[in-house]
Amino acid sequence: MLKTFTGPALLTAAAPLLAAALLPASLAAQSAMAHFDASSKVFRLDAANTTYAFGINSRGELQQVYWGGRLGASDTPPTPTPRREWASFDSTYTNTPQEYGGWGAGLFNEPALKVTFADGNRDLVLHYQSHTETPSGLDVVLKDISRNVLVTLHYFIDEHTGILGRSATIENRESAPITIEQAAAATLVLPAGNYTLNYLTGRWAGEFTLNQEPIRHGARVLESRRGTTGHQANPWFAIQSAASDEDHGEVWFGALAWSGSWRTTIEQDQLDAVRVTSGYNPFDFGYVLHPNEKLETPVLYAGYSAHGLGGASRLLHAFELRNVLPRTQKTASSPTPRPRPVIYNSWEATEFHVSEAGQIALAEKAAALGIDRFVMDDGWFGQRKTDNAGLGDWYVNQEKFPHGLKPLIDRVHALGMDFGLWVEPEMVNPDSDLYRKHPDWVLNFPGRPRTEQRQQLVLNLARPDVRDYVLGFLDKLLNENDIAFLKWDYNRNWAEPGWDQLPAAEQKKVYVAFIQNLYSILAELRKRHPNVEIESCSGGGGRVDLGILRYTDEVWPSDNTDPFDRLTIQDGFTYAYTPQIMMAWVTDSPHWLNKRTTSLAYRMLSSMQGSLGIGANIDKWTPDDAALAKRLIAAYHEVQPTIVQGDLYRLISPRNGSEFSATQTVNAAKSQSVVFAFIHSTQEGRGFPLLKLKGLDPDAQYALTPIEGKAAADSPTTASGAFWMNHGLALHDDFRGDFQAAAFRLDRK
Ligand code: GLA
Repeated sequence: MLKTFTGPALLTAAAPLLAAALLPASLAAQSAMAHFDASSKVFRLDAANTTYAFGINSRGELQQVYWGGRLGASDTPPTPTPRREWASFDSTYTNTPQEYGGWGAGLFNEPALKVTFADGNRDLVLHYQSHTETPSGLDVVLKDISRNVLVTLHYFIDEHTGILGRSATIENRESAPITIEQAAAATLVLPAGNYTLNYLTGRWAGEFTLNQEPIRHGARVLESRRGTTGHQANPWFAIQSAASDEDHGEVWFGALAWSGSWRTTIEQDQLDAVRVTSGYNPFDFGYVLHPNEKLETPVLYAGYSAHGLGGASRLLHAFELRNVLPRTQKTASSPTPRPRPVIYNSWEATEFHVSEAGQIALAEKAAALGIDRFVMDDGWFGQRKTDNAGLGDWYVNQEKFPHGLKPLIDRVHALGMDFGLWVEPEMVNPDSDLYRKHPDWVLNFPGRPRTEQRQQLVLNLARPDVRDYVLGFLDKLLNENDIAFLKWDYNRNWAEPGWDQLPAAEQKKVYVAFIQNLYSILAELRKRHPNVEIESCSGGGGRVDLGILRYTDEVWPSDNTDPFDRLTIQDGFTYAYTPQIMMAWVTDSPHWLNKRTTSLAYRMLSSMQGSLGIGANIDKWTPDDAALAKRLIAAYHEVQPTIVQGDLYRLISPRNGSEFSATQTVNAAKSQSVVFAFIHSTQEGRGFPLLKLKGLDPDAQYALTPIEGKAAADSPTTASGAFWMNHGLALHDDFRGDFQAAAFRLDRK
């Protein structure tokens, strides 16, 4: 019998870089159970509504035997038995669902690990060697059948959600180097069946599009080869059983905690088995492991829900809030991070034309609206007048801020707000002092062109001197200025990813070392400045993943701030990520991207679905605009914890050309709920459908209060949870027309 797990281990054992210090003490109270049955040789992890079981089969491989709804305490999962050879073409090694298969013997499906030894041998067959309890969970050690390559599989399970954390440490105890060509965090196996795969893809200004397709024979590869997470695909998946929908049925889901090139392969083999393998992207991968060196993989978090995609995302949101997101010193002991301050950001209003007087004028207007945090975006540093120059030169531009940042920051503080600043630390413009001094600091292959994107190059953060420079300037900036928040941007992907200081065979280490150094800079900054909060931005949502989210408090989901487009982006976003981190600004109308005209109320309500910000040119707002925004910001502040940390129900999806959409959130105590309803573009004056609410206490009485808009004239103002869920909330007959929005709160009496 293994002892009880404790929560923080979810984040600490697998990767020392994971900033355990940032986790709240309350996590130590969590527990979940694992045990090993010596007679059947089965390891079993149980937590919340989930059981995960795997064991040692007669050949000595680790084999998964069950992953799904929680089994009875006295139930015995099946004994792991190698699957027989189906034909001479279907080897037993391929048919047996290995927990972490090395490429060797007769394995034809996706391996978890592939290596080349110094003598040219490429056969790797991993067998169980030992297991240990760790203070945080369970480690199982595998070893090759003849070579001294050890793989330690780390397992954790979260008591509240049943979400597993899996990762691996690969160690070379041979006397010569080995090259790792492929290394996954884990392979996960589903019971044979018919499934639908859900995954998120996108592009700049169009992130987080939900795709749904049947899983068929062959492999579906989701990946980034860009050195970063990427807008184009997000490292999240959810696999639904045939009978599952938004609210019902079985869903298996996962998210890889890695901000570099990644790959998730979902394959259905010739015998219909479905497996998911996720980790470092094997494309252009080649990590040389010298004797006694180790490589750690990222962590794959994976969970199971019996309540459809909605249930799956509610579990992930709760897990992210409690177990992934960092805390500042001020909130170190709270179980979840504090709701985000309502920000003002001047980017869309001023772009690069920032100045002391201009920013102070905006700050005064922002404070009058009830804004908590004033953020100055790009343009304040070096010779930054456009995006042609200045990145890398992180000194305050004297023309724009002759007295430094202090007068602006002091004014912002005097107005009752805290101050945030934009940085893009990993980048350099060729037109910068930094590049003129250190042209060798960028990713490049000597003698080859250096491909620019947005007139910028990527600093090779894997280099210790570059890492020290980046940490040094950020630390100095935070020491010299009273800055509460950094918007950390990253506005291109890699090209020519050379690291010519290393021997030729080792240069591909850049894919791992760059991201490890990024994480270590973020961890060190947070240690030195424990109340500074950070946003992960990458031209919008290009770097959103559970790796960066251990160090960053929020993300910028998209540069597309059109309130209607955002409804779909936000809907897709919430399949994987909590609304707590989903920053959403209200900007100007007509919108710069698509010229769509919308009312301020509609824009406000679209942004209030997440963590609200204002990004409009408020210098041009009328007194009526300001009054409306002020009223809605105050209303938002009152219910914000319910919106961003409550259980989210996607009542009507905005996808697939829907005329309407609606969401609802309910707080943990079921004492408050907030409903948003949007009309997109309708034909024939169609009215809004009756909204059957979810997740309320059927026996409690709830009072309905409009935040914006009206309920039907004959709607009760107070009714039971049963009424709101069974009869539903009827909106006013006048709620018609294009791009209309309404919002309500329900409070238990
Ligand atoms: C990126 C960000 C924007 C803004 C600009 C500044 O595009 O996503 O929000 O900060 O950079 O250059």
